[in-house]
Amino acid sequence: MFITFEGIDFCGKSTQVELLKNYLVKKNKKVEIIREPGGTEISEKIREALLDKKHYHMFIETEIFLFSASRAQLVREKIRPYLEKGVYVISDRFHDSTTAYQGFGRGIDINTVRHINSLAIGETVPDITFIIDIPVKVADERKKIKTNMDLDRIEISDSVFYEKVRKGYLKLAESEKRFRVIDGTESIENMHYKIVNELNILEKRSVHEAR
Ligand code: TMP
Repeated sequence: MFITFEGIDFCGKSTQVELLKNYLVKKNKKVEIIREPGGTEISEKIREALLDKKHYHMFIETEIFLFSASRAQLVREKIRPYLEKGVYVISDRFHDSTTAYQGFGRGIDINTVRHINSLAIGETVPDITFIIDIPVKVADERKKIKTNMDLDRIEISDSVFYEKVRKGYLKLAESEKRFRVIDGTESIENMHYKIVNELNILEKRSVHEAR
């Protein structure tokens, strides 16, 4: 099963990725966590270029190709081989981040984004995608705890940008059945409970359909 987590920065998805991994490992599943952008030697180098604050002059076209190039490598080098071996792959961000950030956020035409995404990932579409949704104000509060020094090139974006990204995610959520929106202002435990519940429902349905 291929599971992805999405949401604006500081939504708390990385905590949920860890909790879900621990839950699945306890159930004796083989699990691999992937972080986007990154996850392979080539993709990690691309990540550095993408997030470096010195690259404030990066054009949005360059940005979308770099995110997609990193993903194209990751899908072929790691994700597909894992899935073929029956490993559960949990990815902290995937192609929906490109639609939300570069499409809705930066304003690149959504159909163009879809084509680029499709070239990068091919048939490797997640089985289920959790969008951890929080208001931008809440993200801003959490962001204040981090000093400006620690913020990367994208995280330093203003709330106008993040409002567009959040709206983009919510719009995306209505477009395909694989999305589950989780309220990111709830307690960590509640969110985890809901995520596990959704996953179990999906697994039961898949077993039933396979019969
Ligand atoms: P991270 O902080 O979750 O590791 O992600 C790095 C940043 O890159 C985050 O601000 C979201 C952004 N991003 C995009 O803009 N487009 C993408 O396709 C991906 C994967 C991440």
